[in-house]
This record gives sequence, C-alpha cells and structure tokens, in this order.
Amino acid sequence: MKADLIIYNAGQLITCASGGKPKRGAEMADIGVIEDGSVAVAGGKIVGAGRSQDIARQFEAETIIDAGGKVVTPGFVDCHTHIVYAGDRLKEFELKIKGADYLEILANGGGIISTVKYTREADLEELVEQSRNRLNKMLACGTTTAEIKTGYGLDTATEMKMLAAIAELDKIHVIDIVPTFLAAHAVPPEYKDNADEYVDLICGEMLPKAWDWYVASHFFAQNTPFFADVFCEKNAFDLAQSERILRTAKALWFGVKAHVDEFNNLGGSRLGIEMGAVSIDHLDAISDEEIELLAQSDTVGIITPTVNFNFGSSEFADARKLIDSGCAIAVSTDFNPGSAPCPSIPNAMVIACRYQKVLPAEAMNAATINAAFAIGLGDRVGSIEIGKQADILIVDTKDYRQIAYEFGGNLVDKVFKNGTELPFAK
Ligand code: NIG
Ligand code: FE
Repeated sequence: MKADLIIYNAGQLITCASGGKPKRGAEMADIGVIEDGSVAVAGGKIVGAGRSQDIARQFEAETIIDAGGKVVTPGFVDCHTHIVYAGDRLKEFELKIKGADYLEILANGGGIISTVKYTREADLEELVEQSRNRLNKMLACGTTTAEIKTGYGLDTATEMKMLAAIAELDKIHVIDIVPTFLAAHAVPPEYKDNADEYVDLICGEMLPKAWDWYVASHFFAQNTPFFADVFCEKNAFDLAQSERILRTAKALWFGVKAHVDEFNNLGGSRLGIEMGAVSIDHLDAISDEEIELLAQSDTVGIITPTVNFNFGSSEFADARKLIDSGCAIAVSTDFNPGSAPCPSIPNAMVIACRYQKVLPAEAMNAATINAAFAIGLGDRVGSIEIGKQADILIVDTKDYRQIAYEFGGNLVDKVFKNGTELPFAK
C-alpha cells in the first residue's frame, strides 16, 4: 500500500492505543509498547503501526525517516491551560515566596484579578503575539494539541476578545486548539460584593453570546468542541453559583468542565460528575466518596502537579488513590501566570511521578490518550492508532521512562503534525 511517510526503527513505539475510550485504573499502566516499531502515514493520518518488518512489508512511502532506535510517541495533549493573558505575576511570585497565600492575594484584588487588568488593556494583536510565543514553547516540549481557557477578561467585551485571540491562535499556529469559556474564573472588581449579579451576567449575557460566537466560528465548522468551565472555590464561585453556571451552559449545548477541589472541597467534584462534565480538574481536596463516583463515570480527572510544585507545596492531589480506585486520569500543565508558569508536559509528568506516585507509563497515558478524551478529542488525537491524526514525536531516548525521569532539559527531538515534520530549533 502507498503511504506518504514511514517512521521506522523506533526502539520503542509507544502507541497509547486504547480502542476508543480513556484508560482507567490498571489500564493506565499499559502504553502499548511495540519494540522495533514503525508508523505509516497517509493524508496526515496514521494508516499503520506495528513491527518495522510488518510495516515494511505492507507499505511503501516517498519519505522514510529512521528513528534511530529512539522512542516514538503520540504528540502530547495539554488538556488545561490559560495561556492567553497579558502582563506578569512576578511580584506575586515574590510575595508567595515570603509566605502570602494564593486565595488571600485573590481576595485582595491581586492574583487572577491583576492579570485581568493587564488583559483588559491589551489589544487583540498583543494578546495573540504573546500567546503565540507560549504555544511555541509548548510545541518545543512536544505538545501538539492544547485546550485554552478564557477567564482573564471577566467582562463581556474582554472575554469575547480572548475568544477571538484563541481562534486566531488556532489559525496561525500548528498546535490544534480547543477553546473553553471561563468567564467564571473569578468575581471581577465591579461585582466584588455581589457575585450573584456577576453570575446573572454570565448566565444571561456572556454564555449565550459565547455560544453564538462558537456557532459562527471555524471551530464549529471543523467539529472542535467548545466547553464552559467554572472555578468552584472559596473566594471564587460557591457550589450554588457553579451549578447555575454549568446548568445554563449545558442547556446552551456547551460541554462542561470544572476547576474543583484545588484548595477547598465545596462539592464541585460531585456536581461536575453528576452533570456529565468531560473533566474535573485539580482534585486536591476530592473526597473518597467522590473518587468512587468519578471511577464509575465517563468524566476524566485532570491533575495539575505543576500548581502544587509552583506553590512550593508538599501536598498534591492523591493521584495514586485516584488511579487505584479505577478513575481515568489526565495530566496537564495548567500553564498560566499565577499558579503554573510551565509550558512543558514532560515537566508535569516528572512532578506527577515523583510527588503523586504516578508511574511513567501512567503519566504517558495521562498526557496523551486520556488528555485527548478530557477535551473531547479522544477520537482524533492522543494515540498512535489507525485513523488518528499523525501527531507524532521522536524522543531522544531508548526508554520511554526517561521522559518522566529526566528534568530541566528537553528530550523532544522531532515533532510531526498531521504527518509533516516541523522545522524545529531545539
Ligand atoms: O487552574 N485556579 C484557577 N485558575 C488557575 C490559576 C489562574 C491564575 O492564577 O491566573 C489554575 O490554577
Ligand atoms: Fe486552571
């Protein structure tokens, strides 16, 4: 059979093949390794994956790339980011080193709110330019698909500006993007003492407007999903407010996600699971009962180890318990200026392995196939399986465990997006 590209001689071909569903519990330790593997690509899609001798027998291709015995993996999927923003939080970084608390900073008009001020002032071009730079860093670390949230506007005009920036980034950047509407990221200063009124605005104006925008956008035309999200947390949105927002979003046909249990358990995990959220994210304070519910649901649990690491915390979400209880877990960078200034999925894997007792194989599935399901793209990306987009990495190691072991550098050697090798300066 004719193919456009064959990548052969992968010492380990890591397929993360899952047969159309996220991996949960013990399945997360299986990454579908094929020793001496090859991948065949045609029309930007994977048409074959298997032992090199079998692929060589089945396919011929114009472009043939020798992986040199290195590890070949699916491109990483970063399922939770906030990379569209202006300004920085470097002063806050120093305050936190000196002992200031994240939620207290937020309550005093700093934190997310300080990024909101800069983001409101920035024009669309500036936002796109700064965010493009962040996407470049993510790509260099092997991310080929990313979710991006709004949430630094907190007024209708700026939230719509953020959506416009996200759409523009998807058009100009090779990374595929899934948009998430997070007007419920924090209560803006204008509504400081009246959060319910801001929730009225979100439900009555912002969500409907965002949905109309989506339906007219290229995302809708290309069948990319659109999610609504809420930060269910003390000093952000309580359970009743979160429920109102997510119910309104769902009635408009948004998929739903929720930031839950980052610091305090307000019941957000149960709410998200009961509402059929595609993911619930953070999970530091999730209860045993909610872990059981998560294990029995289709919702993916997203862990964000970079956040705890960046806070200098020694406490992390109990990913070991989540996996051992049968949950499907994904890992993200949560790349954002306040809690996780990290573009690198491998770095998030490194922290998850050390501090959350996640095994390298589990971290690999968490960063690929499960992350794809956590943003509604499990049928398109996240694994090396026939029919999937040919988003593939050649990683400069002979053993995949090195990806979750070595830190501070970058092992990604080559990135293929839809079967095309990207020009790539390491
Ligand atoms: O996922 N917790 C809420 N949102 C982000 C932080 C955003 C920020 O601090 O700017 C998070 O950690
Ligand atoms: Fe977040």
